Parts: sequence; structure tokens; C-alpha cells
Amino acid sequence: MKSTTESGVPGTRPEGVRDEREAAARVREMFGRIAPRYDLLNHLLSLDIDKVWRRRVAKRFSAILHNPAARVLDLCCGTGDLALAFRKEAPAGAEIVGSDFVPEMLLRARAKAAALGAGVTFFEADALALPFGDVSFDLVSCSFGFRNLANYERGLHEIFRVLKPGGVAAILEFGEPRGKLFGSLYRFYFRRVLPRLGGLISGNGSAYTYLPSSVSKFPSPEALQGQFERAGYSDVQFERWTGGIVTLHTASRP
Ligand SMILES: C[S@@+](CC[C@H](N)C(=O)[O-])C[C@H]1O[C@@H](n2cnc3c(N)ncnc32)[C@H](O)[C@@H]1O
Repeated sequence: MKSTTESGVPGTRPEGVRDEREAAARVREMFGRIAPRYDLLNHLLSLDIDKVWRRRVAKRFSAILHNPAARVLDLCCGTGDLALAFRKEAPAGAEIVGSDFVPEMLLRARAKAAALGAGVTFFEADALALPFGDVSFDLVSCSFGFRNLANYERGLHEIFRVLKPGGVAAILEFGEPRGKLFGSLYRFYFRRVLPRLGGLISGNGSAYTYLPSSVSKFPSPEALQGQFERAGYSDVQFERWTGGIVTLHTASRP
């Protein structure tokens, strides 16, 4: 099924793929290959700022996380760092579940949760066809995963479906800093330095070429805001962090 949106970007399309099915297969295979070095590279290439961003998301939703009756889903959880930051924010609070469609990522997420004694459950699941019932969660988050979905519109509908009325969706994604000097420096780093370093350390050059290319094709914050609104969300907002390197999108299910 091919779906298009007003932003003209149906979903991620890694180089050379023809349709959604191939895009999802390519993304899955790529993350399976880089899983062993994923954390190391995340922290190294972002100079550890990724940890600050995840902590900031956790602080933002502290009220939900501290409610023991609340249920929270972290989509595209990878090696589990956002779900674990949620647990750290509220050790005895909400039920926290993480899901991802790459088993090699989930293995690492489960090992980290066990080592920390953190109560988080991890499931293998495709974000575009979640195995959760309607109206199940108070917060659905997704850090650096949404951009990789083969169909953004379906991703937003699926999040909406599993949210309770009044529940919140929170998507943290990379953006492109706009300031002239900072923007140019960042683009040089992101497009030239990061793919080389990432390729060298992970042994997978294409994954770290895909990163800047997928960010440059991803809808702008304004376009994604429009997609949220068309999907039926209310109170749709976004804020740029760290000079626009990342954007936090938030929206509620009415
Ligand atoms: C860049 S990583 C982000 C991981 C983690 N959220 C973080 O903050 O580090 C993207 C993750 O999205 C997952 N992913 C991409 N498309 C997915 C899909 N359709 N369903 C489930 N997981 C998906 C990948 O397997 C990968 O683990």
C-alpha cells in the first residue's frame, strides 16, 4: 500500500528501495547489523548529549510517569535508553513497556533492564501494526525511531489508536539547525564527519550515510505538526532543542 501525505513524504525510503515493504525490511536489517555498536556510537557521535535529551523527555512527562496507574509505551525503543530513563525518573511509578521490531536491539534492552533491576518489559513489535489494544496507554513516546517508519501517516494513526483519550504522544526526532554559522558547522559534521566515523566504528558505512540522508528527507516540524492535526490529535506542539538539532513533538488524543 502506498500512502502519501501533504508533506509529500510517505515514509522512509532508504536508497534503492521501491516500496514500503522493502523500506521496512532494509531498516530492520540495518538496525540488526549496527545493534552491537549502537549505544557506543550514539553516545560518542552525540558527545553524550543524547542522554541529556532522553532525561529531558522523562522530566517533561514526570507527572504521568509518577502515576502508578498509568501505562507508558516507548515505540522503536532500540536498546531501551528512553524507557530506562522513564523508569529512573519514577522507579515505582507507571507501567513501562518498550517495543521494537529488531530482536538484536531488544536483547540489549532486556540485558540493560536486568542489570539495573529496572522494571520495564520489552516486546518485539512493528510500530505500524502494534499488538496492543485500542485505548491502552497514557503516554506513547518514540525517540529517533519515527523517521525510520515506512509510513508516517499510519504510524500516527497507530499511536492514536493505542492512546487513551487525554493520552499524549511524544516524538523526539533529529532536525536541521537553521542558524547560519551553527547550521553550516552542524551540516559539515552531520553529513561529512559522522558518516565516516560511524562507518569506521560500526563497520556499516551505509547505516551512517542513511542517517543524515533520512533526516534531510524527513518532514519539517511544521509539516509533521500538520500530519498530527490531520490524524485527529489536539494540542499539537513542537519545540526545537539544542539549536534545532532535535525537535520534540507533543500531541494529545482528544
Ligand atoms: C535510531 S534507533 C532509536 C532507538 C531508541 N529509541 C533511541 O532513542 O536510541 C531506531 C529504532 O527504531 C526501530 N524501528 C524502525 N522502524 C520500526 C518499526 N516499523 N517498528 C518497530 N521498530 C522500528 C529500529 O529497529 C531501531 O531500533
